[in-house]
Amino acid sequence: SGLVFHLLSGFLHLGGLRTALYNFLFAKQQGGTFILRLEDTDQSRLIPGAAQNIQHMLEWAGIPPDESVCSGGQYGPYVQSQRLHMYSAAATSLLESGHAYHCFCTSQRLELLKRDALRSGQTPRYDNRCRQLKTNQVQEKLAAGVPHVIRFRLSSSSEPFEDMVFGWTRHEVAEVEGDPVIIKADGFPTYHLASVVDDTHMRVSHVLRGSEWLISTCKHLQLYRALDETPPTYAHLPLLLNRDGSKLSKRQGDIYIQHFKQQGLLPEALLDIITHCGSGFNSNRLGRRLDDLIEEFNVSKITTHSALLDLDKLPEFNRIHLQRRIEDEGFCCHLVDELKNHITQTYGSLIQDPIVLEPTYIQRVLHLRKGHITSLKELVSPMYSYLWLRPSVSWQQLEEMSSEVQDITALTIQVVQGCGNQYTAEFLTAQLKLIAKKLKKTKYSSVMKILRLALTGEQQGPSVSEVMISLGEQEVCFRLQRILKH
Ligand SMILES: *[C@@H]1O[C@H](CO)[C@@H](O)[C@H](O)[C@H]1NC(C)=O
Repeated sequence: SGLVFHLLSGFLHLGGLRTALYNFLFAKQQGGTFILRLEDTDQSRLIPGAAQNIQHMLEWAGIPPDESVCSGGQYGPYVQSQRLHMYSAAATSLLESGHAYHCFCTSQRLELLKRDALRSGQTPRYDNRCRQLKTNQVQEKLAAGVPHVIRFRLSSSSEPFEDMVFGWTRHEVAEVEGDPVIIKADGFPTYHLASVVDDTHMRVSHVLRGSEWLISTCKHLQLYRALDETPPTYAHLPLLLNRDGSKLSKRQGDIYIQHFKQQGLLPEALLDIITHCGSGFNSNRLGRRLDDLIEEFNVSKITTHSALLDLDKLPEFNRIHLQRRIEDEGFCCHLVDELKNHITQTYGSLIQDPIVLEPTYIQRVLHLRKGHITSLKELVSPMYSYLWLRPSVSWQQLEEMSSEVQDITALTIQVVQGCGNQYTAEFLTAQLKLIAKKLKKTKYSSVMKILRLALTGEQQGPSVSEVMISLGEQEVCFRLQRILKH
């Protein structure tokens, strides 16, 4: 069974989640292993807590790695900073075989090269000067402790390779780039060397990574050849962009996965939207869950087009998946607990009737509102406060709407009390229509407006019969009687 590999550093954002998800799907389909390796060799960009964050976010999303720092595995350690001896061994062997060389160029010299190139309108590149150094010159400088890096000698002919997404690909890197650094002055490897060494040692068979690595892959393949190792198969995933084609910036704080979690978004809604906008599936449909994604994923359907993400549609995706969760008995009790927390946090001591915190009451509300709400928190917004608190409605407000408020209220109480086991939305709607017929001066629509205001304190919201079902017979009567006794 093949190993599938995924690499990440920094906090997990939407683009990273999508790459991780495609790796996970491919691994599950192929019976492979999904590996999370922490690439922390750029010491200047270390973010404390990033490793735990990535693991937690992947677990939250339902796609935990099979092997990682936290999950363990037979090819550890899974943190690159703990594998430095392997990179230096590889660098030594490359030096010995003549594929790599020491470079003593100072940062001032490199800066000058760069400025000269930019001034004459060229792309800056290292001029490979230290390739020319004689062995004794190198030994002298090393002995004198001159700061240095190790560079890989790029071959002037790149071999083409077949990418699973981009097909046959070839980039003559040596024509556009200087020899890349593989060991930095601080002794840490660059991504190029570290990823090649790790993928070899971890027996990685497939790498699914962002298309920004496509050109570097030619360098990596040269490294594999120089080390006499077999490279994995690559699939470079097209970029995930905003709907208008602009880059999803990591600086927009709201693309980090923890942000979505804090917002109360369902992980399956997030997985659904990031797969819906791109390719990689036999068909495109809304509302897929992880099992569907595993089943319908088809790596050969990934196109080279960028995936355009419309985050404005996220509430809609969440609405669909929230409805599914409400309909699932096992999930629903968690939602009940979660909503109860929101209710107590939002209204706490204002709650007059503790019945609104009972699971049966909350569950009834969820079932009535599923398909309408895009998040649980919506149910504690002001427009739904009537579900948890008794509204204050003045008699004057109602009286302005009709002179028959007294009759409307009394008749409605009669209907509710006479319902017995027919207390359903259909029955109530029919009965309320009958009430309107009995009145002389008030139209059905006004009757509804009055009842809505009396029961909820709002002018808009769910149908009056739904409101009555949510609140229950007793509470409806209580609220209406309060008005009669004004
Ligand atoms: C995956 O897509 C390819 C290319 O369109 C197709 O030939 C193949 O049948 C698909 N595989 C599955 C399992 O649907």
